[in-house]
Amino acid sequence: MKDKLIIFDTTLRDGEQSPGASMTRDEKVRIAKALERMKVDVIEAGFPAASPGDFEAVEAVAKAVKNSTVCGLARALEKDIDKAGMALKAAESSRIHTFIATSPIHMQMKLQMQPEQVIELAVKAVKRALQYTDNVEFSPEDAGRSEEDFLCRILEAVIDAGATTLNIPDTVGYSVPHQFGATIGNLIQRIPNSDKAIFSVHCHNDLGLAVANSLAAVMNGARQVECTINGLGERAGNAALEEVVMAVRTRQDVFPCDTTLDTTEIMTCSRLISTITGFPVQPNKAIVGANAFAHESGIHQDGVLKSRETYEIMRAEDVGWAANRMVLGKHSGRNAFKTRMTELGFEFTSEAELNEAFFRFKQLADKKHEIFDEDLQALISEVSVSAEDEYIKLIALSVCSETGEVPTARVTLRIDNQEMTGSSNGSGAVDASLKAIESLVNTHAILELYSVNNITNGTDSQGEVTIRLDKAGRIVNGLGADTDIVIASAKAYINAVNKLQAPNQRRHPQKGDV
Ligand code: KIV
Ligand code: ZN
Repeated sequence: MKDKLIIFDTTLRDGEQSPGASMTRDEKVRIAKALERMKVDVIEAGFPAASPGDFEAVEAVAKAVKNSTVCGLARALEKDIDKAGMALKAAESSRIHTFIATSPIHMQMKLQMQPEQVIELAVKAVKRALQYTDNVEFSPEDAGRSEEDFLCRILEAVIDAGATTLNIPDTVGYSVPHQFGATIGNLIQRIPNSDKAIFSVHCHNDLGLAVANSLAAVMNGARQVECTINGLGERAGNAALEEVVMAVRTRQDVFPCDTTLDTTEIMTCSRLISTITGFPVQPNKAIVGANAFAHESGIHQDGVLKSRETYEIMRAEDVGWAANRMVLGKHSGRNAFKTRMTELGFEFTSEAELNEAFFRFKQLADKKHEIFDEDLQALISEVSVSAEDEYIKLIALSVCSETGEVPTARVTLRIDNQEMTGSSNGSGAVDASLKAIESLVNTHAILELYSVNNITNGTDSQGEVTIRLDKAGRIVNGLGADTDIVIASAKAYINAVNKLQAPNQRRHPQKGDV
């Protein structure tokens, strides 16, 4: 019997720390439900002390999720731990994850504390967390640059205090696989009470080694890996869940453990995260990239046709690629639509929400004959923007773009229940439209990113536009999808502006919040 490898997903916490990847409470609940369906063991839902919005999101996830453990992050401070404990109250199974930095540079420069003080705070934090749950995880932040002797001392002390999971983070992505693996092996061997806790790793991808480091740790005794869907996360991101899970599953000849994940849900989760955050997946990304199972070369195609195993080490359907098929069309009924949406992980909260979604689906089906899962996922994102978050709504847009003429746009918006019309010219139809919108909403935000992706193939495909706005350090991503990319762009801009303006969209700590 092989050991179980625990999968701890931190997309909703560390993943959300990617600039612009902040998510609303409802988006977090949708993602958490998708992770639960995939049978992720632990879902880190957020950092409750960071902001009221984060607290609410963790609370909502704790209420919604039944079959995975829901975890909240807390610094080694009483007030953080109390907030985490309160946010997790409704969870069927909860965990508090507390951390404090242990590297010389962090202790001296950031904390300005002596190592003994750090140990004392860590032990106090674990004991405090135990007042709320018996499932307590401790992380020595920047362990990748901490001294092994000190790690042994602090980890032994927190196990004695009652921590049941010890997570070793490579916070700055500095480690290399053979050395990181050896550190994990040494810690397990040297810490006298190490058998009373599960060792976990949390690797960042600054050198592109997050997955390799995580797997080296697993080979040396780690039995929990912290990771994110699509490798989202602070700076270059975290270890990608799909890569860790599929490496272990595919190479069972090498790994002494396996996960209990339903890997066929991977693609659904990947698309959902990409749509919600506006972070596209690069085509050559392992497992979830559009080209991950595509064979271009004639020799490869010939080989695969004769025997799949000649060039494929995994089956596309095992990670959910089979779901990438045409599912619905113009004549599909409400029931078929609802069933497919449910399969994609979307649960309608009311009849009105289903009606609105079905109406939008029919509108899309009139413009586009074949409706793919990706189209439905983009549609879900639009429908799930609740009315209260839609402070600004697009009513009408007309553009005039002719060769040799300056493009112009005229836009009508409903802002706080009042209709207003503005117009502008620009260097192109998109530029003119966004300027016309800006003339009405006056955000004065900086446009940091504008990108267009076609959701499926063909010229009738929907274009999915991502817009990133930065207003005084507050970064938001807006998304819009439409078969007309000028309209998709306008929708994306309005979506971003709504995020900037809506008072209930406070979320993850952004630059300097904590
Ligand atoms: O990277 C890191 O060190 C973290 C900790 C909070 C575990 O995210
Ligand atoms: Zn991290």
